[in-house]
Amino acid sequence: MRKAYIRSVGRFLPERRLTNCDLEKMVDTSNEWILTRTGIQERRILDPGLGNSYMAIRAAEDCLARAGVDAGEVDAIIVGTVTPDMFFPATACLVQKGIGADRAWGFDLSAGCSGFLFSLTTGAALIEAGRYEKVLVIGSDVMSSIIDYEDRNTCVLFGDAAGAVLLEPAPEPGYGILDFIQRIDGIGKEHLHMKAGGSLLPASHETVTNKQHYVYQEGPQVFKYAVKEMAQVSLEILERNGLTGEDLALFVPHQANLRIIQANAKKIRIDHEKVAVNIDRYANTTAATIPLCLYDAIVEEKRLQKGDYFVLCSFGAGFTWGSVLLRWWE
Ligand code: ACO
Repeated sequence: MRKAYIRSVGRFLPERRLTNCDLEKMVDTSNEWILTRTGIQERRILDPGLGNSYMAIRAAEDCLARAGVDAGEVDAIIVGTVTPDMFFPATACLVQKGIGADRAWGFDLSAGCSGFLFSLTTGAALIEAGRYEKVLVIGSDVMSSIIDYEDRNTCVLFGDAAGAVLLEPAPEPGYGILDFIQRIDGIGKEHLHMKAGGSLLPASHETVTNKQHYVYQEGPQVFKYAVKEMAQVSLEILERNGLTGEDLALFVPHQANLRIIQANAKKIRIDHEKVAVNIDRYANTTAATIPLCLYDAIVEEKRLQKGDYFVLCSFGAGFTWGSVLLRWWE
């Protein structure tokens, strides 16, 4: 069976920076608390009046330009997000029009911070099936649109950004997206959700007054699950492919908290130098964290050589989590 590989990567980062010092002036917090408890120094915030598709389109254009591929060649567009421009139409439709992907179909995929990972493996399956040659996978979230900037428990954690990859059939056997394990557990709803705005509790004056359109998170509960499940699923995928942490050139974990990242790296026994970290600069951008890390590793730092094994790993609202094993081809 043919495999899919990452042909190209792109990103969009809003210009505006919100630093820990800025947050000190907004809520009862400190640079020291945020840095030591999360590893975050600053995050990017999208200007008001712009939506998710604004960022997703720019990340997609950056990705296609880097590959020298015309938007008209794209077969499908998958957007992982929990902050679409609106409930419908899907952000994928807005991206299709925005980039001029005349032949493409597509859809949005909701899996919290695993949105990009689940979209990536879904896109890979479309290619493996032999039906499509070019699938654009985007992770994009405007977390600032669903965050209460009076709640210190959540407002320090999140940022806005978009990342994109172009999937194509791997040029040689044994390269590309080799294997994945993904899981969901609805128990996560208890600890991480948005209370209103859906069909269960539609928007009303009351829901707005009660601030129910913001992220509700029981941080320490989510923390415990993330540390346990991300490591377990990564060890499982390594083991079933006859690999260990030492065989990896790069480990790309979701960026929710530096302490979660470090705990996972320790459990899978991978050297900290091989762990992708950019939470200090961008915070938790939900579906965008993994493609942003890929951009750093591939475009800016050129960390991957042909034949290198690397693992992507996520954990998010749902709960949703998973690990993907890849082998780099360039
Ligand atoms: N500044 C200062 N103090 C704060 C802040 C803040 N910004 N936020 C919380 N505190 C206080 C708390 O009120 C608490 O005070 P108390 O002891 O007097 O009650 C104290 O700091 C410790 O709070 P904890 O919540 O126990 O802190 P913890 O070390 O667990 O860190 C955090 C909190 C950063 C949220 C952590 O639990 C975490 O990262 N959780 C996982 C997040 C995650 O992975 N989310 C999944 C993805 S999100 C998605 O899918 C949309």
